[in-house]
Amino acid sequence: MSELIQDIGILGNNNGENTSCETYRTSKDVDTGKSRKLYIESYGCQMNFSDSEIVSSIMEKEGFDTTSTFENADVVLLNTCSIRDKAEQTVRKRLKQFNSVKKNKPEMLIGVLGCMAERLKEKLLEEEKIVDLVAGPDAYRDLPALVSKVDEGQKAVNTVLSREETYADISPVRLNSNGVTAFISIMRGCDNMCSFCVVPFTRGRERSRDPKSIVEEARQLFESGYKEVTLLGQNVDSYKFALDLDQNQKKVIEKSDAKDIVTFANLLEMVAKVSPDLRVRFSTSHPKDITEDVLHVMAAHENICKYIHLPAQSGNSRVLDIMNRTYTREEYIEKVDSIRKILGEECGISSDMIAGFCTETEEEHKETLTLMEYVQYDFSYMFFYSERPGTLAAKKFEDDIPLETKKRRLNEIIDLQRDLSLKRNQLDVGKTFKVLVEGTSKRSDEQLQGRNSANKVVVFDKRNFKKGDYVNVKVTECTPGTLIGEPVS
Ligand code: SAH
Ligand code: SF4
Ligand code: F3S
Repeated sequence: MSELIQDIGILGNNNGENTSCETYRTSKDVDTGKSRKLYIESYGCQMNFSDSEIVSSIMEKEGFDTTSTFENADVVLLNTCSIRDKAEQTVRKRLKQFNSVKKNKPEMLIGVLGCMAERLKEKLLEEEKIVDLVAGPDAYRDLPALVSKVDEGQKAVNTVLSREETYADISPVRLNSNGVTAFISIMRGCDNMCSFCVVPFTRGRERSRDPKSIVEEARQLFESGYKEVTLLGQNVDSYKFALDLDQNQKKVIEKSDAKDIVTFANLLEMVAKVSPDLRVRFSTSHPKDITEDVLHVMAAHENICKYIHLPAQSGNSRVLDIMNRTYTREEYIEKVDSIRKILGEECGISSDMIAGFCTETEEEHKETLTLMEYVQYDFSYMFFYSERPGTLAAKKFEDDIPLETKKRRLNEIIDLQRDLSLKRNQLDVGKTFKVLVEGTSKRSDEQLQGRNSANKVVVFDKRNFKKGDYVNVKVTECTPGTLIGEPVS
């Protein structure tokens, strides 16, 4: 298997965009006659893609149009990911490519944003001489000042993390959108301390955004033609906002006056009520936090998609314990059983899995496979363990599983997932699904592509349908990654 595939959720049918670090997205060409051009390239998760839209909005106000070609840009920003070593290496290679262009265009400003900026801080300036500016995920409002500082001939760094920043008042410029589906960040940071994970260090403390601004953003998107929103957070089920109280008071009030607290279940319902024609998705659900309330709200609203990304990471309770996931295999299975009971067999369930975490035995690895068999995941994002400096696992455990073994275990997980994905898709043959059309199929201009409620990609003949339509499609055949069907009236 090629290196490329290992870090990409190959069976993830939303283009692996959730956690892939090899693929990236760039800004679009927008020419409104502004004096300077900005190019942004984004790696990592949807949170990063969503942040790049906030950055574009901030820079637009400072007199920047966006471009899709970095050679044409005055300012080049890389919004980076640190989740695995490979993600960081990809960015370093990219900086080398920029170097050759900058030689002929020395005035071009190169900035690094996002998780790698936060993790490495000033060190990045020493290690990568080409970099002029370093800004962490909570410092984007400061970008205009940082750019000015570089214009004056200095290097600029801001990696201060915040307990309050949610960028709630900034209207994102939709860079990553097909005009039909959009992401809305509902919270930032993460307070879990999964021992393998760098995110709490790069994104800071968890904080939730004001629900009024979230609902308003969803309403505006719907009014401008969007048909689907995905509510984003590292752990959406711990969303919590105390109405009319500031975030600092929140902790005190939470205990004494629960009725003022907006939970994720409440928020989901508020967004679902914007319009029955606006689909609502969310990601990511943490197995310890997802509640039956959320499942009941999902069941009560047709427009909340019946799909849950519920990363297990491992199927063995000892490994889960040292990963600090705070649930056991049995508790995870109970959550899956509740999902099946309340939302039925058709609800899509996907996972993230890590192969070869420190001290994982062969038997423990096999329990990951048996958990996958039990749940019958529709797809998974699958990785082998990559030690991250500064994490609890790096401090406490030896990264003792040989790379060959990690890769072999990962391949077993990937092979099994491919079989499960095919099996789950075969169950859909003969059924009819409501599909939201997102655009032309990658296979042929004569076909359209969209997703059903369970997040499966469905391809069908174009006829007179267009992007943004809801079409009922009867599935006639499938592959592990796609359902193929015919529109029915
Ligand atoms: N908040 C999400 C995960 C975000 S990171 C959650 O808790 O589920 C996305 C995925 O990257 C994780 O679910 C995990 O499977 C993977 N990942 C994180 N750190 C990793 C590491 N050090 N090595 C390999 N995979 C890792
Ligand atoms: Fe990382 Fe765990 Fe937080 Fe997910 S919940 S971002 S895996 S620390
Ligand atoms: Fe990567 Fe940061 Fe997202 S480490 S996965 S870009 S939160």
